Amino acid sequence: QADERESMYLVSEFANQFFQKKLHKTEQGKAIGLSYFKERGFTNETIKKFDLGYSPDLWDAFTEEALKSGYKLAFLEKTGLSIVKEQKKFDRFKGRVMFPIHSMSGRTLGFGGRILTNDKKAAKYLNSPESDIYHKSKVLYGIYHAKQSIAKEDNCYLVEGYTDVIQMHQVGIENVVASSGTALTADQIRLINRLTKNITVLFDGDAAGLRASMRGIDLILEQGMNVKVCTFPEGEDPDSFAKANTQEEIQDFLQQNSKDFISFKASLLVNQAEGDPIKKAEVVRDMVNSIAKIPDQIQQEIYLKECTRIMDVSEDVLYSTLAQLNAKNN
Ligand code: CTP
Ligand code: MN
Ligand code: MN
Ligand code: MN
Ligand code: MN
Repeated sequence: QADERESMYLVSEFANQFFQKKLHKTEQGKAIGLSYFKERGFTNETIKKFDLGYSPDLWDAFTEEALKSGYKLAFLEKTGLSIVKEQKKFDRFKGRVMFPIHSMSGRTLGFGGRILTNDKKAAKYLNSPESDIYHKSKVLYGIYHAKQSIAKEDNCYLVEGYTDVIQMHQVGIENVVASSGTALTADQIRLINRLTKNITVLFDGDAAGLRASMRGIDLILEQGMNVKVCTFPEGEDPDSFAKANTQEEIQDFLQQNSKDFISFKASLLVNQAEGDPIKKAEVVRDMVNSIAKIPDQIQQEIYLKECTRIMDVSEDVLYSTLAQLNAKNN
C-alpha cells in the first residue's frame, strides 16, 4: 500500500505543477485565474509561494494530460482529481482557482478549488475527497509555510480559510494555519502542539459557527495548551482585514482584541443567559465543563476564580461542580 500512496503523491504533485502552469502560462489562466488572485490583492510572489493555480474550464483537460504523461486512471480517481462516470472522465476542479494543501513536510496532499462566478447553487469551495494520502482531520492548511514562524513566535494563529492564511502571510504574519471549514480535531491540534503551546483562534466576524467552534476549543484545552480568541469586526475576516490594513495595524488589532478563551466564553455565555436562571445554570455547567478539560489543577483554579467573577456565581458551587467532573474524568 506504500506503493499506492507513493503513486498518489506523484499524481498530486503533477496536478500541482499542472494547475500552476495553466495559471501562469495560458491565456485563459492569466485572464481568469491570475486576474482573480490579483483582484484579491495577492502579489506574484505570494501566488508562487503558495503554489496557487488554475484548473481550465474544460471537461477533462487535466485528466487527459495526466493520462498522456503516463499516470494511471486508478490513481487519478483515488486522489479525487478525476471523476469517472459511465466510462466518461471528468476533472473535479474544472474552471476553479486552486489552493494546494501541503503536509508538514511540503508534499501535496490535496486541493481546495474556488469557484469564480457568483453562482449561489455551486459550492464556493470544492475540496479533495478523503483519500489514503489526504486525511482532512489530520491536516492544517498552511502548516508547511507556517511551522518555522510558529516555533519562533511561540504562538499560532488559527483561522477559518485558505485566503486568511495567505493574506496574513503577505502582510508579514506567517504563524497562521487554517482548519479549512472542518471542525477542529485533536490530531490537528497535535500538529500545532509540537511547535507551540499557544494558540490564538481568529473568528470571522459573521458569528456563524462561533458556538460550534467552542467545542473544538475544548480540545485545545485538553492538550494543556493556552487558548486566546479574537473576533473580527462584522463582515470582516482575517483576509479582508489584512488586505485593508498595515502589518502594524493588524498586530495592534490582534493584541488589543485577543482575549483569554475561558474569560471570553464566560462573558459570552453569561450574556446569552441574561436573567434566565435555568439557562444560567446550564451555561455555568458548560463553563465548568471547559475548565475541567484543563490538565493542570492550578490553572483550573485560576480560571475558576475568574469565572466566579464574570458569571457572578459563588466559588463553592463552581468547586463542587468541578470536583464532580474531575472525578468523572479520572
Ligand atoms: N469552505 C469549504 N466549502 C465551502 C465554504 C467554505 O470548504 N462551500 C471552507 C474553505 O476552506 C474556506 C473556509 O471554509 O476557506 C472558510 O469559509 P468562508 O469564510 O466562507 O470562506 P473564505 O475563506 O472567507 O473564502 P472567500 O474569502 O474566498 O470567500
Ligand atoms: Mn512549491
Ligand atoms: Mn466564515
Ligand atoms: Mn471567511
Ligand atoms: Mn474571506
